[in-house]
Amino acid sequence: MSHQVTIQPSGHQFSVDEGETLLSAALNAGFALPYGCRNGACGACKGKILDGAVDLGNYQASALTDEEKSRGLALFCCATAKSDLAIEVKEVGAARDIPVKTLPCRVERMEKLAADVMAIWLKLPANERLQFLPGQYIDFLLKDGRRRSFSLANPPEDDGLLELHVRHVPGGHFTEHVFNVMKAKDILRIKGPNGSFFLRDSDKPAIFVAGGTGYAPIKSMLAHAFHHAVDRQFVLYWGARDLPSLYQPDLPGQWQQRHANFSFIPVLDQTTPDWRGRGGRVHEAVLADFKDLSGHEVYACGAPVMVQAARRDFMARGLPEEAFFSDAFDYQSGMA
Ligand SMILES: Cc1cc2nc3c(=O)[nH]c(=O)nc-3n(C[C@H](O)[C@H](O)[C@H](O)COP(=O)(O)OP(=O)(O)OC[C@H]3O[C@@H](n4cnc5c(N)ncnc54)[C@H](O)[C@@H]3O)c2cc1C
Ligand code: FES
Repeated sequence: MSHQVTIQPSGHQFSVDEGETLLSAALNAGFALPYGCRNGACGACKGKILDGAVDLGNYQASALTDEEKSRGLALFCCATAKSDLAIEVKEVGAARDIPVKTLPCRVERMEKLAADVMAIWLKLPANERLQFLPGQYIDFLLKDGRRRSFSLANPPEDDGLLELHVRHVPGGHFTEHVFNVMKAKDILRIKGPNGSFFLRDSDKPAIFVAGGTGYAPIKSMLAHAFHHAVDRQFVLYWGARDLPSLYQPDLPGQWQQRHANFSFIPVLDQTTPDWRGRGGRVHEAVLADFKDLSGHEVYACGAPVMVQAARRDFMARGLPEEAFFSDAFDYQSGMA
């Protein structure tokens, strides 16, 4: 049997199944309630039961005191509904609402997706989850004080492991380590989430422009949007040097088959005679297809030179400045 839950003050409503936690049901319905560990240990998901009855579930006493319980507070990652409910909690509306954490993590798995692209899956300690908006990134905090940024490629609803796509920078301090030394079970430290590159609420059609591993945050955004059945018009232009560098072509291809509101346009720098798709620079493929961008949003990610050219040329086609969102993969040599 399911129950109706109303979130105050937003008035948003979702339904929760028997035995399902309030947090999990809210996230599945597309409402971003705050959370940390999703395990009854940190208190980040605490909110008030204004009306109705809940089972508080199993949690650590330090995360919810008796005094808080007596005031009607509950941990939404553990609580289940026994009736229809009204709850009070501030929904996460922007990156600033999400706490930035420094956490140890373990390399769970690595897989070479192309000659110069390594996927890494990171596992957090048992009592930790990283809340983030799709499109955000984390920093690795290296032992020598330097930090290196990488975008999260998994969507937030699939956060058992954090997925990164790391491009090999020849001679690069960190990425040489990733390709030549790093192995499963290595322990690292990360800080995040960071950044304001995330999908805005809008009805406008969105154009995603990815260069190389700039696909990673866009994969997170699109997977999240499809999970929540967002029916905006989406098109992804993914530019890569050559066909092998288009390191994960199957997934956008499958999305295109399953979702009528999505199309995928791969663009190769170096074409071969048997390539029947688009060639040249990725943002120029967008320019060839759209004479007027005044009614669109653009999300661009990849090398700084591509992002700058896209901003300049798309604005010349009428794209409002506030409708251009980007993460430029600047590098951080020597930066602490
Ligand atoms: C917000 C953000 C998100 C990012 N997300 C990703 C991601 O998801 N995947 C990914 O592969 N990269 C991503 N990057 C880029 C990535 O952080 C750098 O490529 C990485 O830090 C290089 O580290 P390194 O220690 O190996 O190289 P360094 O030792 O820092 O650099 C060595 C030399 O290589 C050159 N160099 C380094 N990085 C680049 C680069 N990106 N492009 C061109 N030349 C470079 C520079 O000349 C530099 O002096 C992101 C960057 C930012 C700012
Ligand atoms: S998310 Fe940590 S206690 Fe609920």
